[in-house]
Amino acid sequence: MKQRVHTLVTHAAELLTARTPSGTAARGDELERLELIVDGALAVDDGRLVAVGTTDELVRTFDAEVNVDASDRLVSPSFVEPHTHLVFGGTRHEEWEGKVLEANRPTIDAGIRSTIRATRDASDAELTARAVRHLDDMLRHGITTVEAKTGYGLSREQELRLLEITRTLPHPIDVHATYLGAHTVGPEHLDDRAGYVQEVIDTLPDVVGRAAFCDIAVDPVSFTAEEGRRMADVARRLGLALRFHADQTGDADGTALAVEFDAVSVDHLDHVSDAGLRALADSATVGVVFPGANFHLLDMTPSRLHPDRGARDLPRWAERLVASGAALALSTDFNPGTAPSTSMPMAMQLAARLYRWSFARVWHMATINAAAAMRLEHDRGSLAAGKSADFVVWDAASHGEIVHRFGSNLVRDVYRGGQLLVAGGSVLARS
Ligand code: NIG
Ligand code: FE
Repeated sequence: MKQRVHTLVTHAAELLTARTPSGTAARGDELERLELIVDGALAVDDGRLVAVGTTDELVRTFDAEVNVDASDRLVSPSFVEPHTHLVFGGTRHEEWEGKVLEANRPTIDAGIRSTIRATRDASDAELTARAVRHLDDMLRHGITTVEAKTGYGLSREQELRLLEITRTLPHPIDVHATYLGAHTVGPEHLDDRAGYVQEVIDTLPDVVGRAAFCDIAVDPVSFTAEEGRRMADVARRLGLALRFHADQTGDADGTALAVEFDAVSVDHLDHVSDAGLRALADSATVGVVFPGANFHLLDMTPSRLHPDRGARDLPRWAERLVASGAALALSTDFNPGTAPSTSMPMAMQLAARLYRWSFARVWHMATINAAAAMRLEHDRGSLAAGKSADFVVWDAASHGEIVHRFGSNLVRDVYRGGQLLVAGGSVLARS
């Protein structure tokens, strides 16, 4: 007598499990050991993975109501996207063309302030409709869990409005809201930094119970480590889990501060110091990196006007991060300024090209490591019995093709909690 389950996926050309020996983020040499099952199968019931193995093994034990033939297809975990700025108004394409042509040199903080104006001007309904469109786009690219930050309100009232919009978005993607009042100094406080830090601190009690995380940007364009510490201290006392933007435009000692506060993640690391990186490597905090932001900010392209301002040696920087032994994850950093992309496959494709990272590395970093960057690795990020049945059936037979190809979306079907949300590349209609 076979065990009856709801769904059985069989004959996957490759079943990429992303399981790791530790059950959490892969680091160092582990990053190269990616588990692939040839002629793989999944048994799904009640939204959870019941068994993961070869087709031979699973068809002996299970029969199902719904049978999915994945012949000639890769099956992988769906993506956990651990860092997005999802809710915003306006677009910054004009400012960016100026950067491409070297007609202007937009700064990140001025860019953020222009998005703040457009966001404040937009109604709740407009912001919600746009965010839902972006979520659909993420779903089509295989993402089923998203971290979404506020950070384009930057006054108490506007930040709480964005937090409310974020946590009530009507969408089947699982959205975890983050309060990023500490993105940069709010426009009303440009001459009163301490006043703005105090406003964030005063807002924190209202964030408890509404946000999954509190994010603080410690960076030359945002807050100093001392200012960050004041806000993080209060957030920690209130029991908020912390994450940080750190050391993106220069070393601001943000990474060491994040580790000191046992942050869930510390993100960017472009200018992390040796001491900061050592601290990170010795911690459970996950470092999140954004090849899409490096790409979009033209970090790899020398300036025409100032040839001495050379392109960054991204492969060297990236190797230094991996060699440290730190846990690292990939993300889009989806936002209207530095990274207007909703595609995790694109982030993987760029990591291979700009950082010279292997297929195995980028797959681990977009799945189990990305789940660890939201402390969800017990439930998401790999295909293992007991976990949520969140997976992608691809229009490709091998995991390598997903990294090798670029510019087209090879996602075919997307399941979250055992439920089919994208079929044949299209998001299914919702009632
Ligand atoms: O790339 N310090 C903030 N950096 C943000 C920028 C967002 C934007 O340009 O609007 C980031 O995560
Ligand atoms: Fe960001």
